[in-house]
Amino acid sequence: QHFWLREPWPGRPVEYDAGTGTWGVYGYPEAQEILADPARFSSTTMRLVPKGLMPSGEEFSMEGFLTQIDPPEHGKLRKLVSSAFTRRVVADLEPRITALAHELLDAARGRGRMELVADLAYPLPVIVIAELLGVPGDDRPLFKRWADALFQRDARISLGKSAKEQPVDLRDTWRAWKEMSGYLADHAAERRRRPRADLLTRLVEADVDGERLPDAQVVNFAIILLLAGHITTTMLLGNTVLCLDAFPEQQEKVRADRALVPAAIEESLRLLTPFAALGRATTREVEIGGVTIPPDQLLMVWIAAANRDPRQFPDADVFDPGRDPNPHLAFGRGIHFCLGAPLARLEGRVALNILLDRFNPLRTDPEDRVEFMPTPTMTGVRRLPLIVPS
Ligand code: HEM
Repeated sequence: QHFWLREPWPGRPVEYDAGTGTWGVYGYPEAQEILADPARFSSTTMRLVPKGLMPSGEEFSMEGFLTQIDPPEHGKLRKLVSSAFTRRVVADLEPRITALAHELLDAARGRGRMELVADLAYPLPVIVIAELLGVPGDDRPLFKRWADALFQRDARISLGKSAKEQPVDLRDTWRAWKEMSGYLADHAAERRRRPRADLLTRLVEADVDGERLPDAQVVNFAIILLLAGHITTTMLLGNTVLCLDAFPEQQEKVRADRALVPAAIEESLRLLTPFAALGRATTREVEIGGVTIPPDQLLMVWIAAANRDPRQFPDADVFDPGRDPNPHLAFGRGIHFCLGAPLARLEGRVALNILLDRFNPLRTDPEDRVEFMPTPTMTGVRRLPLIVPS
């Protein structure tokens, strides 16, 4: 069975999951309504985490963690960080991304084998975001360790259970968090002393109407960038290759008309949505998808499912770069819309063009093993061997 049919559209837009004590939202209009309404559906989901699961305040702060903040604080903070992380900053990266992709692929060619994730899809976005922030790209084994501890397993907790009865042990997660905060705090402090031409410096110096970011907020925003800046784009690249492999006639079309590359990236984001689910908390009793949900409930908004809702997307399980319009929710919607979308799209476009130039056809190796991410909230591969043209 095709990978993307593993979890087909469930046919019910909203459903309670007694196992985790959360509400799953699968429908497109329902997901859209929730993401557009932060007053009823708050992003501050951490407050629902059972007591005892979170480390004490001293060592752990979510302050400035953009994805967890509601209006009005969210707007102010977002303005500050986006004043440092502009479209111009991203667009200027194109030559570096191009050079880096060639460099990584040359190194792989020397070995005669190619595994897309280890050889390109992981290192490319990590090095780009590290260089952009101004931390050494060579520290990426550290970033990988932290990201693995935070993301690569199913860390869904059960709301009805005490800290002791949880299905997962979060101690590794908090340890990784602490290490990562310490690392970035050291770099941020260094930039205050000695500014450089990098994003960390722009963040410590960011100023909107006389307001500046406190240290803890600079660090937490840098954490989001470092994490979001690579895992998701890694998944995007792997998923796009999977799609083009499974739909060879579409690959030929895109290869022949490179103006279709951006649309192929968007369609890959729809069909294989990297961040499969977003969390929201109800602030009051709400009615959605014909279901009444009490206040202070955790909703898992499965944008991966919404992106295949047949009420919105005809032939939803088919990869069709010609789909127009393609209003997928892979980057979210509304006030939290992905701040890194221009960077992810740029990396995707550059990498895909280079892969098409260097691999004809672009095929996964049927003799070798493909590995998928182990957690259902992440749609992507962590190992994808390719056939190397001779
Ligand atoms: C927010 C997806 C790449 C930085 C989001 C959200 C989604 C998302 C769905 C909304 C979260 C919510 O509403 O709760 C993706 C995907 C990516 C990607 C699929 C790649 C294919 C990136 C990159 C960066 C980034 C490369 C930065 C370098 C952010 C930030 C936010 C965010 C800072 C928070 C925005 C806010 O809360 O206002 N992303 N992202 N993302 N993303 Fe991305």
